[in-house]
Amino acid sequence: MIRPVLRMGDPRLLERAKPVESFDTPELHALLADMRDTMTHLDGAGLAAPQIGVGLRVVIFGVQRNPRYPDAEEVPDTVLINPRLTPVDAEMEEGWEGCLSVPGMRGLVPRHCRLRYEGFDAAGNRVDRTVGGFHARVVQHECDHLDGILYPMRIRDLANFGYTEVLFPGQPALAE
Ligand code: NI
Repeated sequence: MIRPVLRMGDPRLLERAKPVESFDTPELHALLADMRDTMTHLDGAGLAAPQIGVGLRVVIFGVQRNPRYPDAEEVPDTVLINPRLTPVDAEMEEGWEGCLSVPGMRGLVPRHCRLRYEGFDAAGNRVDRTVGGFHARVVQHECDHLDGILYPMRIRDLANFGYTEVLFPGQPALAE
């Protein structure tokens, strides 16, 4: 079921989400199905449970090769629950981000270039990957939602924040 996505200004987006305690439950599978439906409907690259008003540490993300976004790196479809992120080193890079909770906008956000992420899938199996580039950026963006952080809070220079259609005329863009 497609669920409404909360937009910036809603206090629920600023809360710290709680860990999932039971895996492979009908409730968890129903939540993930709603998250997938909502993300697909809005053509997003990722979605965190708090964005649909559920305060649990659950994120999904994934980017398939799409002719509309020739520059977007592919990211495997992933369910990540109770994540733990560990940067591989101190190197950061700036990149443009959008968010389904901040529709129509883009901002330049610093993120770790490479990081390890650990957590669980819906069945409770361990997930453990070390990634870089766009994949690493999407994970950091989604996991920030679990701590009540929206990407505009991380923009270093607000001169690099604006409307997508003004910043990138004629270009469709992914939103996380
Ligand atoms: Ni987002």
